[in-house]
Amino acid sequence: MTLDNFVVFEGIDGAGTSTQIKILKERPESSRISFSAEPTEGPTGRFLREILGGKIELNPKTTAFLFAADRAEHVWGKGGIVDSVNEGKAVVIDRYIFSSLAYQGVSCGKELPRKLNEDFPLPSLLFFFDINPEASLKRIKNRDVTEIYENNDYLTQTRKQYLEVLEEYKNNSHSDGMKIVTIDATKPKEEIAKIIWSHISNLPIFKS
Ligand code: TMP
Repeated sequence: MTLDNFVVFEGIDGAGTSTQIKILKERPESSRISFSAEPTEGPTGRFLREILGGKIELNPKTTAFLFAADRAEHVWGKGGIVDSVNEGKAVVIDRYIFSSLAYQGVSCGKELPRKLNEDFPLPSLLFFFDINPEASLKRIKNRDVTEIYENNDYLTQTRKQYLEVLEEYKNNSHSDGMKIVTIDATKPKEEIAKIIWSHISNLPIFKS
């Protein structure tokens, strides 16, 4: 099932999704959009940040369950994605099930992340920011915190998983009309922002 007016940004670390969300937030229309990200700022999301920072080492399967638990609250919890869409807002989020299918697909195989994520609603619009890991790592090398997946080998495998997963969705009738837009993430940010707005401005909420 897809949710109308629900938009997801995806890509490997350093692909520039957060920068584009920042640009989108500056638009006057952003008052009609609810923005968030995964991992969330809730208790499970905060725990995930500790795992991502390398403070706690868990079996990769446990991490896959935690991402799904954090997502369940993000989607169905009070004031979550479903509530916001039902209140007539657009929802734009940084990362969603496709991150689990790609990143945890690498760390614990495809099967478990698929099972854990099969019940979540799909966005009606998905942006995939495509970039090679050499370029993305160059962008994030000056960040204060390095997270466990931020290395060339892991991100190369993750990008491959993303491309495979998106290809499957493109060819699958269960995708239920989810529109997938691949962005060349090496383009100037102003140019990317224009492409993004050209799609978001066509959501039903901005047409009514
Ligand atoms: P970010 O805040 O820079 O997007 O980093 C979040 C990290 O968490 C990034 O390396 C991707 C990873 N991640 C997963 O591995 N699985 C998931 O389901 C999500 C939402 C994020």
